[in-house]
Amino acid sequence: IQLTNNKLSAQKEGYRFFMEKEIYEQSSVITDTLLGRLSDDAVIFDELGKDFFEAINEIKLCACGTSYHSALTASYLFERYAKIKTSVEVASEFRYRSPIMSKETLFVVISQSGETADTLETLKMAKKAGLKTLVICNVDNSSMVRIADKTILTRAGIEKGVASTKAFATQVTVFWMLALHVAQSKKTLTKDELTQHIHYLRAIPTSVHIEDAMHERIKRLSKRYLHGHGFFFIGRDVFFPLALEGALKLKEISYLHAEGYPSGEMKHGPIALADPELFTIALLPQHMLYEKSKSNVEELSARDSTICAISPLEFDKADDFIQTKKHEHYMLEFFEMMVVLQLLSLEISIRLGNDVDMPRNLAKSVTVE
Ligand code: G6P
Repeated sequence: IQLTNNKLSAQKEGYRFFMEKEIYEQSSVITDTLLGRLSDDAVIFDELGKDFFEAINEIKLCACGTSYHSALTASYLFERYAKIKTSVEVASEFRYRSPIMSKETLFVVISQSGETADTLETLKMAKKAGLKTLVICNVDNSSMVRIADKTILTRAGIEKGVASTKAFATQVTVFWMLALHVAQSKKTLTKDELTQHIHYLRAIPTSVHIEDAMHERIKRLSKRYLHGHGFFFIGRDVFFPLALEGALKLKEISYLHAEGYPSGEMKHGPIALADPELFTIALLPQHMLYEKSKSNVEELSARDSTICAISPLEFDKADDFIQTKKHEHYMLEFFEMMVVLQLLSLEISIRLGNDVDMPRNLAKSVTVE
């Protein structure tokens, strides 16, 4: 690995940027996130105590930025596995509405830092309204941890890159486990189904492992995506919030215009932009709405958008193709594709000569409004 700054390289352990180091750390930090929280057929959160979900019939998630994207991902998992009504809101919006807060709602805030002003304020509002509160956080003893009734720590370690990577990965890991934990207490999954999920959860660290050939492929390919008039990242189901996160990563560190869109929504407007200078990064997982997603990408291909498809299955309608591994479950595909998107942004940003770790106009933690 080529060093770009010898003085800092010791801390970066040979990686060019902290963001790169943090992308590579994901396998080991997720192992920490899982540690002590799985048995053969149960997900254990000692920190929640007994019967935490009793009398709860709804979950409200509130966050900003990348943490908001992990919350959106969580909403699919909570409804699918725990059969509990879940809604998600950006904190800066929630705090100035007149939200209806019922006592049967569990209010969950998600924050890497535990200090984001808007998110913190929504937590205070929920407390004041007498709701049960939970924070999913990476920093122990942060303001949110001190205020919330209960805390689940994500255990990602210190994240230095302003663009969040490993914090997001550990948040989604916690949410997958939490959805199963609620499913357990509400008995919405069978023992066999739980056992199967726990087997998949244990495979997350392997799914985010980066092979040299994959990184090389993305590095080479990135040179074709430096110009043009914009990017669409598209996906369905949980791959939609992942597409939003992929677009955010690219915006943050490359300063290129990017939008995340649900694949099925492109025909309602955005497809009008399709031309060769419009880059589409398409997520095509094998185990989630593959045929539907494929035909959405084909529509874009027919209108001459330049397409980079990410899929474990061969796809010949794309200009570029990044082949991911075959996994047994769509969430494992999610984690591998997450890494691909992180690396793609990283390599584009490096080629453009940007400071990956300190992007212009952004702060790691926004503690003022
Ligand atoms: C800032 C950071 C983002 C982060 C967001 C929320 O805008 O630049 O990377 O996602 O804050 O931060 P939090 O610490 O609450 O997760």
